[in-house]
Amino acid sequence: MSLMPNIDNPTAKTLADLGVTDALAIPPLFAEIRARFDAEILRSRDETNWNITKVMWLGRKSGVLTQITENWLKPATPELKRAVGQQLNELRAHVETQIEARRAAIESGAEASALAHDRVDLSLPGVNRPVGSRHLIRQVFQEIEDIFFSIGFSVVEGPEIETPYYNFEALNIPEFHPVRDDMDTFYLELPPSPDKKTAPTPLLLRTHTSPMQIRTMEKQKPPVRVIVPGKVYRRDNPDATHSFAFHQIEGLAVDSDITFCDFTGTIEYFVKQFFGPSVKTRFRPSYFPFTEPSVEFDVSCPFCGGTGASNGTTCSKCKGAAWIELFGAGMVDPAVYGFVNYDAKKVSGFAFGIGIDRLAMLKYGIDDIQVFFQNDVRFLRQFP
Ligand code: DAH
Repeated sequence: MSLMPNIDNPTAKTLADLGVTDALAIPPLFAEIRARFDAEILRSRDETNWNITKVMWLGRKSGVLTQITENWLKPATPELKRAVGQQLNELRAHVETQIEARRAAIESGAEASALAHDRVDLSLPGVNRPVGSRHLIRQVFQEIEDIFFSIGFSVVEGPEIETPYYNFEALNIPEFHPVRDDMDTFYLELPPSPDKKTAPTPLLLRTHTSPMQIRTMEKQKPPVRVIVPGKVYRRDNPDATHSFAFHQIEGLAVDSDITFCDFTGTIEYFVKQFFGPSVKTRFRPSYFPFTEPSVEFDVSCPFCGGTGASNGTTCSKCKGAAWIELFGAGMVDPAVYGFVNYDAKKVSGFAFGIGIDRLAMLKYGIDDIQVFFQNDVRFLRQFP
């Protein structure tokens, strides 16, 4: 490999051929060679080019320095030899240091760019994946479950598709009982029975979580203490307080010695935990086929302190009534025990059914039940 074609490569010729006879002409000659080297080494920006440059200048067989030694130094006249030798040494030292310096620069540069390529910058913000939050209804479920869990109730869940037996009959609601009018629901369209003679057992979407009272007692002997959170359905036209799907928590406690006092004490405990210790409770007589006596529980309005007025005007939550109707409950009707083979003479208990949507609307000041089902993130984000 040679630096350049022989024609304009002075190192391929002897000094005599170049017409140099004076020692004073030697330094400028070397200066020119050195300038050429300096330009070339600057252009060697990667390992491959650096290698080529190194071989061109330091190569033993035909590197520039070897050429100078062979063509300039060795045949030089005694007058010129000293000057050539000295200049050559200086040039060699320069070339060697520069080549080495360039190697180090290329290596650290390569390392830096490799590092930059693979670098993980831990200070950069992470990828933000919004995980959402629990729906307000789910939060209220959880709150109520926690309260009852803390006093020994366990949580059970049941099917949303029910038979009329569990949804009505076993709860002491025979066919043609007038309360069925309030619980009109959706029936499933079923394929005909295999023998095509008998009608298939009708199936419906449960209208309340009460069927789980029956399913639980069928499975389990007293004592029973359960709550049942879940979705329920009715053929209601949607408006601000009605929806064809909504949520309830059923409660049931049955044991050998449960009294009306246990019942009211438990409900009162729950209401105070949920609304705060200063609220009062009261119950009014009511009617449900599966409880006897049946009651409707009210809470003193937690928003106006049970006065019916706030900031000098009628309280918007209780509409001035000072009390808010909360949910239905009662002592389990002995007739119900007959459906689950409990001895009505030996056991007693209470049950309640809390409408979750209503409770959530009340507690969080929501005036339209439909927002629970629309999944508008502007609503959902208000309850993180
Ligand atoms: N199941 C009733 C309803 O949906 C609510 C209810 C009332 C449940 C009284 C009960 C109860 O357990 O004792 O309207």
